[in-house]
Formats: sequence, C-alpha cells, structure tokens
Amino acid sequence: MRQRRISPCLAATALSAALLLLILLHASSSPPLLLWPSSAAPAPPPRAERGPGRPPSFAYWISGTGRDARRVLRLLRAVYHPRNRYLLHLDAGAGDGEREALAAAVRGEEPAWREFRNVDVVGGAYAVDRTGSSALAAVLHGAAVLLKMGPHWDWLVTLSAEDYPLVTQDDLLYAFSSVPRDLNFIDHTSDLGWKAHERFEKIIVDPSLYMDKNTELFLSKGTRQMPDAFQIFTGSPWLILSRSFTEHCVHGLDNLPRKLLMYFANTAYSMESYFQTLICNSSDFRNTTVNADLRYFIWDDPPGLDPLVLNESNFQNMVNSSAAFARRFVEDAPVLKKMDDELLNRSPVQLVPGVWCPNLAKEQSGVNMESCLKWGDINAVRPGRAGERLRRFISKIIETRGCS
Ligand SMILES: *[C@@H]1O[C@H](CO)[C@@H](O)[C@H](O)[C@H]1NC(C)=O
Ligand SMILES: *[C@@H]1O[C@H](CO)[C@@H](O)[C@H](O)[C@H]1NC(C)=O
Ligand SMILES: *[C@@H]1O[C@H](CO)[C@@H](O)[C@H](O)[C@H]1NC(C)=O
Ligand SMILES: *[C@@H]1O[C@H](CO)[C@@H](O)[C@H](O)[C@H]1NC(C)=O
Repeated sequence: MRQRRISPCLAATALSAALLLLILLHASSSPPLLLWPSSAAPAPPPRAERGPGRPPSFAYWISGTGRDARRVLRLLRAVYHPRNRYLLHLDAGAGDGEREALAAAVRGEEPAWREFRNVDVVGGAYAVDRTGSSALAAVLHGAAVLLKMGPHWDWLVTLSAEDYPLVTQDDLLYAFSSVPRDLNFIDHTSDLGWKAHERFEKIIVDPSLYMDKNTELFLSKGTRQMPDAFQIFTGSPWLILSRSFTEHCVHGLDNLPRKLLMYFANTAYSMESYFQTLICNSSDFRNTTVNADLRYFIWDDPPGLDPLVLNESNFQNMVNSSAAFARRFVEDAPVLKKMDDELLNRSPVQLVPGVWCPNLAKEQSGVNMESCLKWGDINAVRPGRAGERLRRFISKIIETRGCS
C-alpha cells in the first residue's frame, strides 16, 4: 500500500525534476568550421516560412536505449527535413559515452543538422521502462522540451529506434498540408475487454520512476475499482499530437492532464491509455481525435508483447497500408535497405532528398552525393506517388472525428 501512495507523486516530481535538470547538447554548440572545411559548407541556410500556403512542420521525439545510437541516427537521416524539429533521447540503458557519441554525430555528421540547428540530444540520462509510466513521463518530457525549443511546429510525432518511415518527409509534409492543424491522430477504443481487469484493476509499480537504472515493473498487492470520474480509452502508444493538445498535456489549465498522469502512474502500459483517456474526456479536444496512428505493424496470433519483426516479406503490405511509419525492425535489416532504395531514394550515407536539397537525388547528380551542397527551397515540397496516396488516405480518415 505504501508504494501505491508514493508512486503517483514520484511520477510528477520525476517529470519536473527532469525538466529542471535538463541539459541539452545542442547541435550548434561546436564551432562549425573546425569540423568542416568552409568550401564544403553551403551558403547560410534559408529560413523556414510558416503560415497559410506553407507546408506544416513536425516535432519528432525519437527514443532509444543502450546500443541504439546507430539506429537512431539512421532513423534521423530517414526522417530529416529542415522544417522539422528533432529531439533524440537515449535512456539509462545507454552509457554517457554512447549519448555523447550521438550528440557528436549530430554536431558533425551532416552540414544540414548543424546549419539548421533543428536536432537536439537530451543530455541527461534517466531510466525508462517502456511498459511503465516512466515511458509516459519521458514522452511528456520530450513534449515539454520540444514546445520550448521549437515555437513553430504543428504536430508532435513519437518514434523509437525500432521504427522507420514508409514515405519521405516531402510526402508527409505534403499529405499533412491540407489537414486542419488541430487534429490529433490517436488510435483508441473504449472497448477495454480483458484489459479492464488486467490493466486497470491491477496496480503496478514502475521502479524506473525512482531508480537510476531501467528496472522492470512489479505487480502490487490488491486491486482497485474502475474509475467513474472519467472513462478509460486505450489504443496504440504511437501518436501524432497537435501542438495545442500537446500544450494542454504539458501545462493545461484543466486539472485532468495531471490527475490522469497520477492515476496512470500505477497502470501497466500507460502509454496506451493516457493520451487516449485524456483527449476523449476533454470536451475541448474530443472532436479533434482521428482514430488512427498512421503506423504499420503486425501482431502474431496470439499476440505477443511486441508486434512482429518486419522483413522483406512484409514490404508490399507495408507500402499498400498507406501508413507513414512501420515498426518493428532489427538493426541493419535488409528490408531497411530496400525501403531506403525504393521508398526514400536514400543512399546509406545520406539524408533523404527533397526540394530542400535536390542535389541528394541520384538522378540529379548522376552520382551519390554524401551531403547537401546547396540548399534548395525549404518552404516547398514535391510529393511522389506515395505522398499523393497518403494525402488521399488521410483526407478520408479525418472525415470521422471524435471518440468511439
Ligand atoms: C469523461 O468521462 C466521463 C465519465 O464517463 C463522462 O461523463 C464525460 O462525458 C467524459 N467527458 C467527455 C468530454 O467526454
Ligand atoms: C463535438 O461533436 C459533437 C457531435 O458532432 C457535437 O455535438 C459537439 O457540440 C462538438 N463539441 C465541440 C466542442 O465542438
Ligand atoms: C519474415 O518474417 C516471417 C515471420 O514474421 C518469417 O516467417 C519469414 O521467414 C521471414 N522471412 C525472411 C525472408 O526472413
Ligand atoms: C498492393 O497493391 C497493388 C496495387 O493496388 C496490388 O497489385 C498488390 O497485389 C498489393 N499487394 C499486396 C501484398 O497486397
């Protein structure tokens, strides 16, 4: 019982302590010319223009654990666009050396990352258990930092090192150009089934909220009633949140964001229920909910703890799914190379070409360019067929809004 009372408070204090102690390893903190000869650096970067008639912009929270730095970098390359913001986080499963190597790569490996200064690495380490509420605290931490660092982005996208995009950022920005900026893509249901008893009546403790190292959850004695002050919704933990709903989660004046944070501190897989329950019980935001996460994954039968690892045999289904991202992949899986080649037009060493840097495209230069030599137009995007298809798909699914 003691733990039952203590944990919720820790959820909140861990979040605010993490905010206070935050040290960001910023992309701009090293002198650029020491790392790159000036002849290789393009002219000063163009400024991103915002507003009507301009493409939107995303804030990416990309999380990983020990030995994920390479995967996180590959994913960053695959989803990079100068309009967006990126915040990378390696939890306590990674050592300081790996975290610093990631920050060094962000500072040094791509002129674009350095020039546009839109990639940051969380410098401090803290424990995360992805099945517990420490994972939720981490996402809210990322959201708070991204709100502060990036005053202009429209949607927050959560990704992990096991994810990979199915479309280019030109395609994604194009597909979202016509989407009302207040919409949230949150897969959800109120049909709890077995989860009512297994997840919400049971009480768990997530020691990653109060231990230095990633630590597994444990089940506490006793059970609790289903709530009647709000209705629980549950669904996919992978989200695309509007800026206004993200602000509501982080510093909304309503008390529900905080009450639910405390409630879900003792619930397993709270990332699958917190945002769903909050939005569906908030009259101001309920109608901005689109019941989709735009991710592709497949489950075993019966489903395991995680979706199946994807390989080449899933390629065509992934493409046909009209999703924007897929998971899970193992590091250096051959199917990732196929996605680079056939979906992203990306060579293993470079960023994804787009209007912002046309010289990266193979057909433009005849050879594989390793980095962007000349900035293109960062305020325009040119979709391929995948972008057109995604835009049609999204405009269809956003016709139905609200919670069900
Ligand atoms: C939140 O949940 C409560 C309890 O089910 C419900 O009465 C209320 O209508 C919900 N709020 C919204 C905005 O749906
Ligand atoms: C949300 O949608 C419902 C049903 O369409 C409508 O009755 C309600 O007024 C809407 N709420 C807001 C705040 O727009
Ligand atoms: C792909 O994964 C499935 C299981 O998800 C497996 O049956 C199949 O053998 C794998 N194919 C390859 C080429 O590895
Ligand atoms: C994917 O879509 C194409 C074109 O609609 C179709 O020919 C193909 O059979 C689909 N593949 C799978 C695996 O569903």
